[in-house]
Amino acid sequence: MSQPQPNPSPAPLLAVDDLTVTVPSAAAPDGRAAVVRRFSMRLERGEMVALVGESGCGKTLTALALIGLLPAGVAVGGGSIRLAGAGELTALDEGGWVRLRGARVAMIFQEPLSALNPRLTIGYQLCETLRRHRRLRGAAARREAVRLLQRVAMPDAGRRLRSYAHQLSGGQRQRAMIALALAGEPDLLLADEPTTALDVTIQAQVLALIDELRRELGLAVLLISHDLGVVAGCCERVLVMYAGQVVEEAPAEDLFRRPAHPYTRALLDALPVIGRRGELRGIPGSVPQPGRLPPGCAFAPRCAEAVDRCRRQPPRLVPLAGGRLSRCLLHEEQP
Ligand SMILES: Nc1ncnc2c1ncn2[C@@H]1O[C@H](COP(=O)(O)OP(=O)(O)OP(=O)(O)O)[C@@H](O)[C@H]1O
Ligand SMILES: [Mg+2]
Repeated sequence: MSQPQPNPSPAPLLAVDDLTVTVPSAAAPDGRAAVVRRFSMRLERGEMVALVGESGCGKTLTALALIGLLPAGVAVGGGSIRLAGAGELTALDEGGWVRLRGARVAMIFQEPLSALNPRLTIGYQLCETLRRHRRLRGAAARREAVRLLQRVAMPDAGRRLRSYAHQLSGGQRQRAMIALALAGEPDLLLADEPTTALDVTIQAQVLALIDELRRELGLAVLLISHDLGVVAGCCERVLVMYAGQVVEEAPAEDLFRRPAHPYTRALLDALPVIGRRGELRGIPGSVPQPGRLPPGCAFAPRCAEAVDRCRRQPPRLVPLAGGRLSRCLLHEEQP
């Protein structure tokens, strides 16, 4: 008789391994450049993880790959995306993505008008999504639409069914878009700079709402931001991306208290300090263009701590104490 096997640890909700996304590039010898380079992450149910990095680092294309919405000409060049119960997503055809999108994975954006149709009322769009994903119609769909708007704390939810996007404030539009994203009861929400266009007070309210939904619905959230300050309060783990690669991953608290990678430190140094007026200090230099990566470490040309070897040898992502990862030669050398 065989020994009873211990329960294997359940698979994470989302497992991404070595995901590569490529774009056409005249600078690359084979005409394509990788803008997301061997990106890996795990996301559990009910967990909120942040993906941060400067503009052009590949955050949005990573998220779009996870929901099968890469723009024309941009393609997955390798790697694996597995979603519990749905298998390997890189193998899906468009029909498969249509069934998955909204029902398992939903996305919200910086600009709600890219998700809301300006010619249709909020109620119509919610009811249409409820019909498609949950087969609700008529009064049942309208009741659920009101409940969803109440759930996202939309003021005067019942009346808002008849509103068009342009009749809502920025914060209300964001709430309507979140309600629409939740209508199909997804378990993974990709939030791409969802609060960047909002003023600070509304930004905090929308983040608090997303956090509440995470806890109450067990929603897994990938929160994308170029601003470490935004993710500080609400994420358990942070992935820092530079030139298409994860350069540091750490529990949020540790990352803010003791950033390991020089790029993370530079991002933190660039944050405005409360009470200190004056210009925001950016990181000198700019993110390399796709297909024009420097040899060695992609951050070396901007790194205050770079040594000669950094300009020759690409660093590996190595584990550090405390479940952290860092892609820096300085850490490769530590025992
Ligand atoms: N449709 C496209 N075709 C070709 N290149 C693209 C396309 N979209 C994005 N890129 C390039 O891919 C890289 C990553 O872009 P991406 O939009 O993912 O960055 P990001 O980190 O989301 O930046 P931001 O903070 O500005 O939103 C950039 O160099 C960008 O110029
Ligand atoms: Mg983006």
